Amino acid sequence: MARVNDMTPLKRHRPQPIGEDKIQTRLLHMGTPEGVLAGTVAPPTYHFSSVIYPSMQAYESAHHERYGQLIYGRVGSPTLWALEDALCELEGAHDAVLMPSGLAAIHLALASTLSAGDHLLVTDAVYPPVKQLCKQVLSRWGIEVEYYDPLDLNTLAALFKSNTRVVYAESPASHTLEIQDLPALCHLAHQNGAVVIVDNTWATPLFQKPLLLGADIVVHAGTKYLVGHSDAMMGVVLSQSGVASQVRSYWSDTGSCLGPDDAALALRGLRTLDVRLQRHQQNALRIGQSLEQRAEVARVLYPALPSHPQHDLWRRDFSGASGLLTFVPQPSDKRQVDAFADALKLFGIGASWGGFESLVLTALPQRGASSLLWPKAQYVVRLHIGLEHIDDLLKDLDQAFDAWRRA
Ligand SMILES: Cc1ncc(COP(=O)(O)O)c(C=O)c1O
Repeated sequence: MARVNDMTPLKRHRPQPIGEDKIQTRLLHMGTPEGVLAGTVAPPTYHFSSVIYPSMQAYESAHHERYGQLIYGRVGSPTLWALEDALCELEGAHDAVLMPSGLAAIHLALASTLSAGDHLLVTDAVYPPVKQLCKQVLSRWGIEVEYYDPLDLNTLAALFKSNTRVVYAESPASHTLEIQDLPALCHLAHQNGAVVIVDNTWATPLFQKPLLLGADIVVHAGTKYLVGHSDAMMGVVLSQSGVASQVRSYWSDTGSCLGPDDAALALRGLRTLDVRLQRHQQNALRIGQSLEQRAEVARVLYPALPSHPQHDLWRRDFSGASGLLTFVPQPSDKRQVDAFADALKLFGIGASWGGFESLVLTALPQRGASSLLWPKAQYVVRLHIGLEHIDDLLKDLDQAFDAWRRA
């Protein structure tokens, strides 16, 4: 059997500069690097581990050059390059490193910017598994973690130490949707010699661009809106040029890689990101407004509502709101809240969000930082508002509130 490939080996071309087209148009054309497509609209999905070279010299020069070379399945493929290029363009980043989940991307961002003995500041309203990562993993590597109130920059300022290397932000926050003042936070962190990592999963790069607001690194759980169809896990770390090489080296030294099928699903999801988000936003705003009128609801936490405490910050730094919102029930017991969730027919009970479908979950936000007040037993109801017809969703919520009252 011939084992020699004398075809011209596939090679990645540097992404083209951003053109004049609007983002809705670019979404359909980005992530299609020249030279690897052979005319297909969707980039082919490359499955491979080994790559065969025609000579040792060709093999060695590919390894020497590395960027954009097809070398080995773990270190890149045209499918992954297409997704990386698209995400870099969308977020305005220098580099994108793909990971097999959002949490893995968060770990990569933290591990590549911290060393033993460093101090890390994390928003107290962070996605809860990040607290677990800090407690169970980073602490074992001698990294000291402290939590800060995302709404109080004065207390944050007082927490910096000479060894503070990273400030980790998530805006809006998980469950309670506080919006952080990212330009001010980045300024403060940089004055103190720290880099800023922002989880931008809720807004996606279409509705907020933290790198343009001053952040050094953005992470996404691509599992949510970027993939958008609840059929793949994916994470990405997007960096400015000052930190990009340390993120990529850590990635390259530790062996994580996104599978080609998941990359292809993410690339397909991206094409419809704008139209999906517009509908998520439209539906979520209507539902937020209707929840505000209900006797069972004490507060709706959704930044696009004028009642949201940081609505003005949201208007300043975001260009839209996605489909995830939370409401705080009037004092009620868990039985009633659960009866409501159980009675919903169109909202599935399940973890995650960002797919086309509506979801519901009750949660107990846990806040450790003393300045963030959250009553110990105060449950919230988290709704992911999907792409269903708004009338059907409102009807479903109505009948579930009937079940709430009966419980
Ligand atoms: C805000 C946020 N960041 C990160 C993650 C983690 O993403 P993944 O589930 O892909 O690991 C999640 C998951 O729910 C999330 O909500």
